[in-house]
Amino acid sequence: MPLDIPGATHLHSGKVRDLYSLEPADDETGEERLLMVASDRISAFDFILTPGIPDKGEILTRMSLWWFDQLADLVPNHVVSTAVPEKVRGRALVVEKLDMFPVECVARGYLTGSGLADYEATGEVCGVPLPPGLVDGSRLPEPIFTPATKAELGEHDENVSFEAVTETIGLESATALKDLTLRIYARAEEIARERGIILADTKLEFGARPDGTIVLGDEVLTPDSSRFWPADSYQPGRAQPSYDKQFVRNWLVSPESGWDRASDEQPPTLPDEIVAKTRERYVQAYEQLTGQAF
Ligand SMILES: Nc1ncnc2c1ncn2[C@@H]1O[C@H](COP(=O)(O)OP(=O)(O)OP(=O)(O)O)[C@@H](O)[C@H]1O
Ligand SMILES: [Mg+2]
Repeated sequence: MPLDIPGATHLHSGKVRDLYSLEPADDETGEERLLMVASDRISAFDFILTPGIPDKGEILTRMSLWWFDQLADLVPNHVVSTAVPEKVRGRALVVEKLDMFPVECVARGYLTGSGLADYEATGEVCGVPLPPGLVDGSRLPEPIFTPATKAELGEHDENVSFEAVTETIGLESATALKDLTLRIYARAEEIARERGIILADTKLEFGARPDGTIVLGDEVLTPDSSRFWPADSYQPGRAQPSYDKQFVRNWLVSPESGWDRASDEQPPTLPDEIVAKTRERYVQAYEQLTGQAF
């Protein structure tokens, strides 16, 4: 999976992205740099599908960059440069190497997914009590911070309480991450809403610079890290159509695919038409959000 990139050493591959270390900056700081590469891989139902979606890596990289700019007055980010090796042009970023907090910082403005499951079992999400009567897709009275611990490869992240986060990283850092996460969500939700997209929830990752400054890392506010719902078809009480993966999911669970979701088998190859429609959705999400042509 990892590419042979001159000057870069492969560190890690997730479902969709690959991380490399680069030579330290050749200035007096000697700061460590990483190369974050977004592939065209797409996952659904926890499987990496074949084939990839052409241009997905570039679209998501550009979207992330656009959001980093929209948030620049709220929080510093890890982006150093978009000047990357030819092989990964357009879909990679040079970033500061941060000491990452071991917390997936999730903000939710709407109830669905693991939040809904927790609510139905306990009436709470991550220790935050919620009013009775909420259904799949309900807008929450106010956005909430619902942190999760990063799971090992192949496992699902586990929702945890704010107190559990304070025990891991201390009250001061936990409070800072919570405040930042909620401020970023509020800003992004407003921007998306003006453009006809509901930002139901989002997952952020933060790290610290050697001097302790908290910096926003990873990718931000992409369809891979967030739930985007088209506002015009929003209807609580059912699963909302996902902005990006709906064609893929619908096809996989349809009789045409011949795939049994209950089996542990790798799903079949996506037909060209599904790939093309899905690519169109990513382009549309990018253009609708940023107002820029891809
Ligand atoms: N600036 C940074 N410095 C150091 N590590 C970073 C930085 N930005 C992101 N990371 C880390 O890089 C890794 C990116 O991994 P990636 O998201 O591709 O895979 P994953 O989280 O292991 O799996 P998944 O595919 O489920 O997301 C994460 O561990 C993230 O915390
Ligand atoms: Mg990740």
